Amino acid sequence: MAFTEVTTDITGRLLSIVGESNAILDEEGRYRYGHDETEDHSFLPDVVLKPGTAEEVSAIMHLCNQYSIPVTPRGGGTGLSGGALPVQKGVVISMERFNRILSIDELNLQATVEPGVITEVFQMAVKEKGLFYPPDPASRGSCFIGGNVSENSGGPKAVKYGVTRDYVLNLEVVLPNGDIIWTGANVLKNSTGYNLTQLMCGSEGTLGIITKIVFKLRGYPQKTVLLLMPFVTSAEACRAIAEIFRSGITPSGMEFFEREAAMKTISYVEKITNARVTTPFPENMDAYLLCELDGNDDEVLMRDAERVMNVVEQFMVGEVLFADTEAQKDELWKIRRNISPAVKAYSINRAEDVVVPRGNLPALINGIKEIGRSVGFNSVCYGHLGDGNLHVDILKENISEEAWNTTVVEGIGDIFKLAVSLGGTLSGEHGIGIAKRPYMPIAMREANLVLMRGIKSAFDPKGILNPGKIF
Ligand code: LAC
Ligand code: ZN
Repeated sequence: MAFTEVTTDITGRLLSIVGESNAILDEEGRYRYGHDETEDHSFLPDVVLKPGTAEEVSAIMHLCNQYSIPVTPRGGGTGLSGGALPVQKGVVISMERFNRILSIDELNLQATVEPGVITEVFQMAVKEKGLFYPPDPASRGSCFIGGNVSENSGGPKAVKYGVTRDYVLNLEVVLPNGDIIWTGANVLKNSTGYNLTQLMCGSEGTLGIITKIVFKLRGYPQKTVLLLMPFVTSAEACRAIAEIFRSGITPSGMEFFEREAAMKTISYVEKITNARVTTPFPENMDAYLLCELDGNDDEVLMRDAERVMNVVEQFMVGEVLFADTEAQKDELWKIRRNISPAVKAYSINRAEDVVVPRGNLPALINGIKEIGRSVGFNSVCYGHLGDGNLHVDILKENISEEAWNTTVVEGIGDIFKLAVSLGGTLSGEHGIGIAKRPYMPIAMREANLVLMRGIKSAFDPKGILNPGKIF
């Protein structure tokens, strides 16, 4: 695709759309918008714009489409697949000024928000009204909800409540040519033509720029029980998970982490909070499950917790810890949420996000460790195993630059081939972006990719919006 440079003349016209105070031209400022949480990638955009209305986004897109200038939309910059990186330079549109919750409709259990609202801020705002927005990515304290829609984020509660797309009813979108559309209607059922709303969810900012989101909400479950269950091996933990679901219980969280993940994160959390972690993590164990049950009735919850205990006793489980105070629950969730930052602080890593049918998890984890041994890398495994969604952080540590870019890349390909052979796929919730793009043919046949490229060119014939992503 031939792109045009951002000339002084075009910069001037872009600045007149958003106002000078909402543009960044200096190198240091642009640098901040050139990287996210993906490995150590960094790309310098020519200009960063912070529009405040859909009309301004529309005017930017209209101009950039006319001159074939690449545009990369950006949320909170917490992505792990490089979806917001301006790989072709050009314009970065930061959605940070779209930070208003426009309405919370308590009668219809809906909310309309702008995409730059921080996910946790939205969760707390609806909770104040007794309402529940379940998608709960680990980065909820800093990620933007528009980014969650674009990547179709998941998080721990997806196992019971579904992922971001399951809560999106309707979207206001600026198309690459500058047209502004609503994708659907604010209704719970809709069989009116192709589902453009769901096509936008998980499209990684390649089809349009989301400027308003209508979510559906639920009532807030009043009570939770949290269990920390240590297992002698990862495979035993995985088998226990499958059996818990088979027994008819659907936990509201079923998180897994290897001991290595727990140990690295405990010391990281102690450092950032300057406080000791008090929850005991039994030693001589390979893996832990964090199992949350939620509901509104203490007795039902306790009965379900007992059933979970009875199930896991059939496996090689250590002493189970009932988190009995809110402080202990918070501490456990804080540890869980900080695994990714803790691993990142320890070493540059490639954060993979494979997903397989739950019953195939033991084969997946054993296979990944085997690949690591033969290629020569260490990995830290954790994730949302109730969904079969495993995060595999592959550590660079002392691996040479050359091996990191050759044999390790091939080893990651082998992990993806393994996941696909087990009935799974490349990404459960982080998206493809640039990080997994080379591996798409492992999961997709050419016919699938042709269809996807066709959809892309129907929205964006000149290929200016978030170029270089997905395929
Ligand atoms: C998590 C992020 C990495 O689950 O998805 O912690
Ligand atoms: Zn995750």
